[in-house]
Amino acid sequence: MNLISIRDLSPGEVEAILDRADELKARRCDPSARSILAGKSLAAIFEKPSTRTRVSLEVAMADLGGHALYLSTKDLQLGRGETIADTARVLSRFVHAIAARVYDHKTVEELGRYAEVPVINALSDLEHPCQILADLMTVRERFGRLAGLKVAWVGDGNNVCNSTILAAAMMGMEMAVAAPPGYEPDRKILDLAESLGGRTAVLADPLEAVRGAEVVSTDTWVSMGDEAEAAKRLGAFRRYQVNSDLLRHAKEDAIVLHCLPAHRGHEITDEVMDGPQSAILDQSENRLHSVKAVLERLLV
Ligand code: CP
Ligand code: NVA
Repeated sequence: MNLISIRDLSPGEVEAILDRADELKARRCDPSARSILAGKSLAAIFEKPSTRTRVSLEVAMADLGGHALYLSTKDLQLGRGETIADTARVLSRFVHAIAARVYDHKTVEELGRYAEVPVINALSDLEHPCQILADLMTVRERFGRLAGLKVAWVGDGNNVCNSTILAAAMMGMEMAVAAPPGYEPDRKILDLAESLGGRTAVLADPLEAVRGAEVVSTDTWVSMGDEAEAAKRLGAFRRYQVNSDLLRHAKEDAIVLHCLPAHRGHEITDEVMDGPQSAILDQSENRLHSVKAVLERLLV
């Protein structure tokens, strides 16, 4: 089994992973967890930089008694033209799972096609399933449930937004996206969400999107790979900042999420990021606990 899209899990499997993540969080210091992945190895391939994803994968493997190898594509033969298929086949003879952070989603799909071990998408241009599990865990911690809650995404209809849309549809959450014209989420993702019974409102007005929302989520306006368009993007997204004025239109007990890294003063203000409604540090910590549950599900 792979985790390339959040859709690779059923809603029941998502709930089970979140339950297990809660348990693993509660027993973080329990040394018996070290037997869970004893003797197992993970190859973690990175085409792009990472703080949270890399550290959560490496610490999760260590805490569960296993071993992770950080493999930058700069150092792999992949960077010198070895094929994705050959890399997948060979790594499958060495390790028990492969995680990959890639520019093009097709790369992680191809790894999944040729690997004989589970493949985890550690972020592609289309999706970020590991992030979304941490986000759902954080929302459940705060509200005790997922179904029936409204999530508002403000900003770029990017990879994290796409996975949020799919997860909301799967888990019975209402979803509204406020994005400037030209930066809306992927049409295929919206159609897929609809086929899952999801209701995704795609709006131009951030105020309308956050109205009645329990969760307000955002992300950088310039994702990795979009750097050449940075100036144009900063102009286009100016009205889409998560700030105190905007937050006042959400539910009174709304929480704010950001997958990080944040560009303070652009998509989110210091006041909101460091304010009482921010669940961002818990969300970040939950990357560790949720990915442990994923690794256990895929490797045991
Ligand atoms: N949220 C996230 O994936 O962060 P990194 O890019 O630091 O891994
Ligand atoms: N959308 C961002 C997420 C970083 C974790 C990017 O792809 O760069």
